[in-house]
Amino acid sequence: IKAQFNEELNAASSKEELERIRVSFLGKKGLVTEELKNLRNLDAEAKKTAGMQVNILKAECEKAIVEYQKLMEEKEYQKEIESAERYDYSIPSEKPVGTLHPITIVQRQIENIFITMGFIIEDGLEIQTEFNNFEGVNIPKNHPARDMQDTYYLENGQVLKTHTSAAQNTIMRKYGAPKPGEPLKVLFPGRCFRNENIDASHENTFFQLEGMMIGDDISISNLIYFMKVLLTEVFEREVKVRLRPGFFPFVEPGFELDINCAICGGVGCPTCKQSGWLELLPCGMIHPNVLRLGGIDPDKYTGFAFGLGLTRLAMMKYNIKDIRLFNSGNLKQLKQFTL
Ligand code: PHE
Repeated sequence: IKAQFNEELNAASSKEELERIRVSFLGKKGLVTEELKNLRNLDAEAKKTAGMQVNILKAECEKAIVEYQKLMEEKEYQKEIESAERYDYSIPSEKPVGTLHPITIVQRQIENIFITMGFIIEDGLEIQTEFNNFEGVNIPKNHPARDMQDTYYLENGQVLKTHTSAAQNTIMRKYGAPKPGEPLKVLFPGRCFRNENIDASHENTFFQLEGMMIGDDISISNLIYFMKVLLTEVFEREVKVRLRPGFFPFVEPGFELDINCAICGGVGCPTCKQSGWLELLPCGMIHPNVLRLGGIDPDKYTGFAFGLGLTRLAMMKYNIKDIRLFNSGNLKQLKQFTL
């Protein structure tokens, strides 16, 4: 039986054949199993020796089948490897690699402008406590300003930050009160979320870029100076701006800085809602309460803050008419932007 088994096994070339051999030797009516059954016809002494032999045979056959199966699998795997296409991952690609997202391009450009003016770049969390997003910037629990911002609340009570100002408190605490003559200058861009109905000019996910300067003698003229530098650098020309009083609970006084619509040239278009002006840069002097909550004494220090609509700025710079493009993942469109 063993010789026959070996012969058949060595000729097996597929899993199916292997299974057939297993059944014909070890299955219910297999040759080895039959031998086991035949044992009962023997007398006790013969049963003992024959039984041992048959059981050894059975174990050998089982082991051989398992080993043969392993061998077959290894051979198959080897074949697969040999037939697979080969790549050399170290050869540089001839195709162009990725491109930067238009928002990233504009963000980096502004970051570079501010870095040369001594600003540090900070990163705010996208998930924030209610305190950081609201109370910490002087928006109390029942303040009407909270209705202005339709907020995404998470189940655990935290919020998706509705504005980059949510990072103000954390940043003030991180750096503490500035030393005399060394104002704290920070730029903190970030993704913001508001529960908006989406159309060509509204998105529920957009980018802002916020800046803050705190020191012992920071005034509105510092604010205006930095805003002018910013806009001239970004648009690479003199831009017409308009400053209006604006209300934000975290600044006093607060301003709305509007810019002449670059898309329609001031004639009026859907993007500027026919007015010729685009609200671009809300800003103001940091409210004393906000400084105090950030651990900075408002009697000794003042500061300004501005919150630039980065998404809107990118729309203006690249003449993009539909805000939905930014989150569309449409590479064909997105890859055409360069600095
Ligand atoms: N956080 C304000 C907003 O989201 C913008 C802002 C920032 C206004 C800083 C003034 C100062 O609309």
